[in-house]
Amino acid sequence: MSNIVSIQNIADYVGQTVTVQGWLYAKTGKGKIQFLQIRDGTGAMQAILFKPNLPLEVFEAGKRLTQESALIVTGEVKQNDRAPGIPGGYEIDASDLKIVQESAEYPITPKEHGVEFLMENRHLWIRSRLQWAILRIRATVMRACRDWLDNHGYIEMSTPILTPAAGEGTSTLFEVDYFGDTVYLAQTGQLYNEANIYSFGKVYCFGPTFRAEKSKTRRHVTEFWMLEPEMAFFDLDDLMDMEEEFMSYVVQRVLAERTDELKVLERDTTMLEKVKPPFPRISYDEALEKLEKIRAETDDPEHKELLKIEWGEDFGSPHETALTQLYDKPIFVYGFPSQCKAFYMEPWPNRPEVCKSVDMLAPEGYGEITGGSERISDPDLLLKRIHEENLPEEAFQWYLDLRRYGSVPHSGFGLGIERAITWLTGIHHIRETNPFPRTLGRVYP
Ligand code: 4AD
Ligand code: MG
Repeated sequence: MSNIVSIQNIADYVGQTVTVQGWLYAKTGKGKIQFLQIRDGTGAMQAILFKPNLPLEVFEAGKRLTQESALIVTGEVKQNDRAPGIPGGYEIDASDLKIVQESAEYPITPKEHGVEFLMENRHLWIRSRLQWAILRIRATVMRACRDWLDNHGYIEMSTPILTPAAGEGTSTLFEVDYFGDTVYLAQTGQLYNEANIYSFGKVYCFGPTFRAEKSKTRRHVTEFWMLEPEMAFFDLDDLMDMEEEFMSYVVQRVLAERTDELKVLERDTTMLEKVKPPFPRISYDEALEKLEKIRAETDDPEHKELLKIEWGEDFGSPHETALTQLYDKPIFVYGFPSQCKAFYMEPWPNRPEVCKSVDMLAPEGYGEITGGSERISDPDLLLKRIHEENLPEEAFQWYLDLRRYGSVPHSGFGLGIERAITWLTGIHHIRETNPFPRTLGRVYP
């Protein structure tokens, strides 16, 4: 009987004969000895083909193997501190080798490739070490998000992707022809979650969301996954308390469970280790003062220009980067001007030009990772805001109903999963955080 094991658990099998199923990513050696570097989806390790230990034809076939050939190798697991791999430190002394398929010449070789070529071959690129590490971290982030919420009394609700109206501003809508009517791909599940809280109290939705962003930046994709918790009887302070607990858990879980992957990415985790409550809370007004001070202290005229901001304007990435550089943790910026935020946000008491919004900005210049707010709970005020924003009142009747029947103060936020992973993995561009990213210029493969 073959004893099929995963490379991630290989340390448990030292001295035993096991079988590993996977693909060849590199091969070295000469004469009587060949070193096969194998990955199996859970890790990577080497198998040693030593001529006297194998049938001759098997050894010869192994010697000819091409990159990405599929294979099944059996042999004794040995500890060897110098053996490469993930986790590394173990090798298989092969006694048998089955070749499942000999790969055709593989387009992605160890040499450098341009990013356009790699994106065109994304279906193959995801096999590469760095991409593998990023996407393993992605899965852990998603798991950790769900675990924290499930363990804190939240229940997951699915929200629709085809929607009759905008949730987040009308300039980034994807239109879909729905049997002759125009509907839109969801920008957010939030509005539906606001209905869900009146049945379930604390809920979250987690799914793909869409923005027809015409901007080609390293922080924007057109399809991204958003995690959106929504809570009844929560005000803005409750929201920030919850967000910092939640985010700290997710970060610490990734550090604990994805050590090998972070090492593959050469991620310096010093800053991530500090992600624990409380996070600094800065009002928009205070943020503007800080930015003004940074501007005054800058000698570089170009930087001075980039940091310019008038009260009422939203932050650009230079503002976010400059602000977060003052801290060694994620920060909250709350109380943005209503004019730069969505229609549903509760106004500040006695300051209607400001709303009870809060963004979480990641350290190290990774920018906004969550956006949230306390929501308007008064029906008349909500209707007034819908009119002011020229939104179609008819499409929002159901949403107004939520303010007619048992309305309570409530709050929620959305975490952009790809943004969070860009930060956690410390990579440059958001496109590598999704297995098959959609951007302004690309929907293939
Ligand atoms: O700030 P946003 O637009 O907030 C909402 O959609 C709210 N309805 C969420 C809520 O309160 N339930 O988006 C939330 C987050 C952003 O902070 C960012 O992380 C991410 O979604 N995001 C994007 N990520 C990648 N590409 C884009 N084009 C993104 N747009 C937003
Ligand atoms: Mg936002």
